[in-house]
Amino acid sequence: VLQGRSVVLRPALSEDLPRFLDILRSPEVALWWGNPPAADELDDEFLGPEVTTFAVVIDGAVAGLIQYHEENEPDYRSAGVDIALAPECHGRGFGADAVETLARHLFESRGHHRLTMDPAAANQRAIACYLRAGFKPVGVMRQYERGADGTWHDGLLMELLRDEFS
Ligand SMILES: CC(C)(COP(=O)(O)OP(=O)(O)OC[C@H]1O[C@@H](n2cnc3c(N)ncnc32)[C@H](O)[C@@H]1OP(=O)(O)O)[C@@H](O)C(=O)NCCC(=O)NCCS
Repeated sequence: VLQGRSVVLRPALSEDLPRFLDILRSPEVALWWGNPPAADELDDEFLGPEVTTFAVVIDGAVAGLIQYHEENEPDYRSAGVDIALAPECHGRGFGADAVETLARHLFESRGHHRLTMDPAAANQRAIACYLRAGFKPVGVMRQYERGADGTWHDGLLMELLRDEFS
């Protein structure tokens, strides 16, 4: 369990999956996360071997999820992070708190030296949140992901290096 300033990150459990799905189905989140997974894909998406997912707990209730996947090829080792919070929690500093808290864990306990995030280039709130957590924009990845409207959208590659993290 990872303690942030206001948020607590605890390993996700199968009991969290319905709440995660509710959050991913909210229009404010689906706009950026795309179509929510089908019910039978949830286990793989959040509890499968490729990712590690934490529930973001605020005032004792699950208010979101944050997850990382690791590239473990030794010469390219790094971790990528994704996050979604329930709409009623947006814009109150919880996202930056959760990202910083997970970043500390990835540097200090998982031994990473480089973290990445890849928000849509138009997702200004996510970009502002990750800047606040210390990530730096690296460059625009053109036509990086297909959006909910079915067209390809640019993404922004953002990085945080251990040497830059305080
Ligand atoms: C992205 C997300 C995790 C950020 O968490 P958050 O708690 O809302 O973010 P924070 O409050 O920590 O920081 C938000 C920053 O955006 C700014 N902001 C808020 N609304 C904004 C808007 N509409 N446009 C631009 N900036 C905005 C805030 O001022 C703040 O910046 P500051 O610290 O420089 O003042 C959350 O909003 C979310 O889950 N959004 C929907 C799903 C999503 O986009 N996930 C990310 C996919 S990469």
